[in-house]
Amino acid sequence: MSVYAELKAMLAPFGQEHLLNGWDTLSPEEQNTLAGEIRSQDFETLNKLYAEHAGKASDSHPENDEFSPMPFSLAEEDPRREMWEETGNLLLEKGEAAAFLVAGGQGSRLGFEGPKGAFDIGLPSKKSIFQIQAERLLYLSSRAGRSIPWCIMTSPLNHEATLEHFESHRFFGLERDSVRFFPQGMICALDENGKALKSSAGHLALVPDGNGGCFQALARSGSLAWLMEKGVRYVFLYSVDNILVKVCDPAFIGFLAGDAASASASKAVEKRSAEEKVGVFGYKNKKPAVIEYSDLSAALRDAKLSGGNLAFASGNIAVHLFRIEALKKLEHSPLPWHSARKSAFGFSNVWKFEQFLFDAFPLLGSMKLFGVLREKEFAPVKNAEGADSPKSAREMLGALHREWLSRAGAPVKTGKLYEISPRLSYAGEGLSKALFERELGKDILEFEE
Ligand code: UTP
Repeated sequence: MSVYAELKAMLAPFGQEHLLNGWDTLSPEEQNTLAGEIRSQDFETLNKLYAEHAGKASDSHPENDEFSPMPFSLAEEDPRREMWEETGNLLLEKGEAAAFLVAGGQGSRLGFEGPKGAFDIGLPSKKSIFQIQAERLLYLSSRAGRSIPWCIMTSPLNHEATLEHFESHRFFGLERDSVRFFPQGMICALDENGKALKSSAGHLALVPDGNGGCFQALARSGSLAWLMEKGVRYVFLYSVDNILVKVCDPAFIGFLAGDAASASASKAVEKRSAEEKVGVFGYKNKKPAVIEYSDLSAALRDAKLSGGNLAFASGNIAVHLFRIEALKKLEHSPLPWHSARKSAFGFSNVWKFEQFLFDAFPLLGSMKLFGVLREKEFAPVKNAEGADSPKSAREMLGALHREWLSRAGAPVKTGKLYEISPRLSYAGEGLSKALFERELGKDILEFEE
C-alpha cells in the first residue's frame, strides 16, 4: 500500500481525509514530514473532544460543584521547619530528589521570540531565567556532593533553541549528563466544524498540548525511567517564569517526605485580596484541586474563616513536589482536556485543546500545602510590562537580596537594590559584611530601578 493510501485509510473513518489535499504537490521530504505529523495524532480522541466541547458554553459547571477550603499555614513559622530542611538535605545527598521544569509554553504575553527561560529579565548580571535556576541547582548540588537530575520539558517549537541556549553557555557549569531535555506532545487545532486544520500545505496546525502534557511526556521520553533508575523518589515540578523559585527547596522536600499519606505537596501564597485573579487550592467535590478564580462564586471568594482570613486564600504559584509513585500513576491516568477558541494560523474561532498540570491533584487524591511568603518565593514574569513583568520581578529579587544583606550586617545603600549570585547563597545563608565588601561588583551587584 502506498503511504498516501495508508494515510487515507487511517483518516477516512474520522472524516479527516482533507488533510491529504495537495499531497501530489509536496516533495518526498515534505510528504514524509506530513505523514509523520498525521501519524502522531489520535483522530478518534480529537473527534471525541470536538463532539464533547462544541456546543457547550464552557468547560466547567461550577454551579454543580461543591467547594471547600484547603487549610495552609506558613512553613517558616512551623517549629518542624529545621527538621524538614535537614531531611531534605539528606535526601538530596542520597540522590533521591530531582527537578522537573515545564518550559514548553509559548510565552505569548511576554512577547519574547525565544524560549522564555532564555530571556534576560534585565538584572545587572544579565543572567537568563535558565541560568538563575541552573545556578541554584549547582549550589544545592555542590552542598549535597552530587548532581541533582534536572528534566526540562520543551515543545517542538522551542526545543532546539532551548538546547542551543544551554550549549552556548556550557550548561552553566552543570554536568551535561544530569540534564535531560524532551519535547511535549502537540495536538492538532480544529476548525469550527471539527475538521483538523493545516498551517501550510505540508504541515498540520499543531499546538502544544498544555503543561498537563508533562506527565505523558516524562514517561514517553524515558525520563521517568531514568529518574527511577537513579533512585529518585521526589520530583520538584515547576513553571519556568518564577524568578524567585527555590528549585528543589530542601525544606519542601523534607515536608513531603515526612508525610507518607500525601502523594504530592504544593507551595501556596496567601491571596492579596478576594478579588485577586489566581487559582486557589481547595476541595472540589471532596477531592483536592486547584479551583480557578472564575469557578468560585462571589460568596465563596469573599467567605471568611472565624479569625477573619479568607477561607479560599491559598494561591497556586505552580511549585509542586510529587512522589515518584504518583508520577508513575499519572502515566496511566489521563488528565481531562480543556478547550479554547482562538484566532490562530490565520483562521478565527479555531478549537485548541490542552491539559492542565493541576488536574493531576484530584486524580492522586491526597496532597498537602506548604505556605510561603510571596515576597520571598514568587516573582512571575508573564507580561512585558506592568504587573508580573521583568521589572516587577527585578524589583522583588533586588529587594529580597537587599534584605538578606542587611540582615547579615552588610552596609547596603538606601534606595539601591542588590543581586546576589546563587553561587554565594541559596536563601540568604552564608552572607556577611566581609563577604559583601569582597564580592560587591563581582558576585554581588548593586542596581536601581
Ligand atoms: P503559562 O500558562 O504562563 O503559559 O505557562 P506560557 O505559554 O508560558 O505564556 P503565555 O500564556 O503564552 O503568555 C505556565 C507554565 O507552563 C508551561 C510554561 O512554559 C510555563 O512554565 N507550559 C505551558 C508548558 O510547558 N506547555 C504548554 O503547553 C503550556
